[in-house]
Amino acid sequence: MKPRSSLVLAGLATLPFAAVLVAWLGIFNVAASTGHWPITNWFLHFAMRSSVRTYAFGITVPDLRKTGLLQPAAAHFDTGCAFCHGAPGMVPSPAALAMLPPPPYLVHKVGEWTDAQLFRIIRHGVRYTGMPAWPALERTDEIWGMVAFLRRLPSLDAEGYRRLVEEPSVRDRPSAFDAAIARCARCHGRDGIGRDEAVPVIAGQSSAYLIGSLRAYVEGKRPSGMMEVALSQTDASILDMLARYYAGQPLPAKPVGADPVSAARGREIAEQGLPGKSVPACLGCHGGSRKNPAYPKIVGQKRAYLEAQLRLFAESRRGGTDYAHIMTKVAGKLSEKDIEDVATYLTSIK
Ligand code: HEC
Ligand code: HEC
Ligand code: HEC
Repeated sequence: MKPRSSLVLAGLATLPFAAVLVAWLGIFNVAASTGHWPITNWFLHFAMRSSVRTYAFGITVPDLRKTGLLQPAAAHFDTGCAFCHGAPGMVPSPAALAMLPPPPYLVHKVGEWTDAQLFRIIRHGVRYTGMPAWPALERTDEIWGMVAFLRRLPSLDAEGYRRLVEEPSVRDRPSAFDAAIARCARCHGRDGIGRDEAVPVIAGQSSAYLIGSLRAYVEGKRPSGMMEVALSQTDASILDMLARYYAGQPLPAKPVGADPVSAARGREIAEQGLPGKSVPACLGCHGGSRKNPAYPKIVGQKRAYLEAQLRLFAESRRGGTDYAHIMTKVAGKLSEKDIEDVATYLTSIK
């Protein structure tokens, strides 16, 4: 063998080790947040389309008008697919849209596939994308029902879709409000006290502030993955009702014991501010009777939440209503000790 070709061979032989080394070093970025390169994107779609085309070859398509199961397929779509793909009158969950690749809005996509190809995709799913396989592979009748439904999908408006998916008797269906409260209660409780130290007390909060905050989450002006997802399933027309409901819940102010030195210093900040750093008195805005309803109550709020929000404001990561910039400025001047002392005081009073 010539020296050069043995060099090439040796190089090739080390390739697998180099690949393992790269994987072990962790340089390869598996983050979904950064997206694929355009070339990777193109290649993956190209490979997916080719694979579906090849594997769909030879699938015999039944008469879709006679498959039955179209209506149950619609109802199944609503529970099993719409979360990712959206549906007429319903946007997909923000959590699903953050997937890589993001699930396509099928209303616009089904026309690009043949019946056999749709059958293949729904039955087997798409590897590495989150698109799941049908749970019972042998139930091809169910899968054809879904294909028949997807063919109908582009011609449905929101009303037509709902009629297909839901039983029409409205009486025993929970109202949009009850359904929403049940979701909020998973974290906030029905009493609005919150089931964890990091979940804010929203009971007894000013309703102007609550509605302003809910809108800020919906409009992307206050970042929180949890609240954005929770609100994506909530009809915008009932946000006012939800805010009023929680504002009307009693706030059992439960002062907790506190380190007296820290509380005394916190009291000074709350009542007089820090003139040396031109920090205004917190309670000038957050307490008393002259208070603007857009300014939230912070007495009775939880310690972990108070501190976390002050840090978020200070780092310009909080957002909020049209008044939020006021707090960004105030919090930016507080030291870590100021934050702890003022939180100690605020949680030690009624
Ligand atoms: C967890 C999220 C998720 C769920 C649930 C899901 N899908 Fe998908 N689906 C995807 C993703 C992501 C793709 C894109 C795959 C790609 O681009 O290669 C996809 C692709 C598809 C496609 C091909 C569309 C195209 O043009 O790329 C069809 C058809 C489809 N899904 C139907 C369904 C049906 C029917 C259901 C319910 C039984 C369902 N999906 C459930 C995530 C999901
Ligand atoms: C998965 C848990 C979860 C669910 C479900 C949830 N929340 Fe929240 N909520 C939180 C957390 C955590 C925060 C604090 C977020 C932040 O840091 O901005 C929050 C913040 C809020 C705030 C801002 C409070 C303040 O003092 O600024 C309001 C208002 C609110 N939620 C109302 C609701 C309503 C109404 C629902 C039901 C539609 C709901 N939440 C569902 C966890 C949840
Ligand atoms: C000039 C008025 C003003 C002053 C002074 C002020 N705040 Fe605020 N604060 C606001 C407003 C307005 C908001 C609501 C921001 C939003 O979400 O839109 C707020 C929000 C907050 C929040 C978030 C509450 C929640 O439920 O999420 C905390 C915590 C807070 N302030 C603490 C303080 C502390 C501590 C001080 C004193 C160091 C202080 N504030 C001084 C106006 C003020």
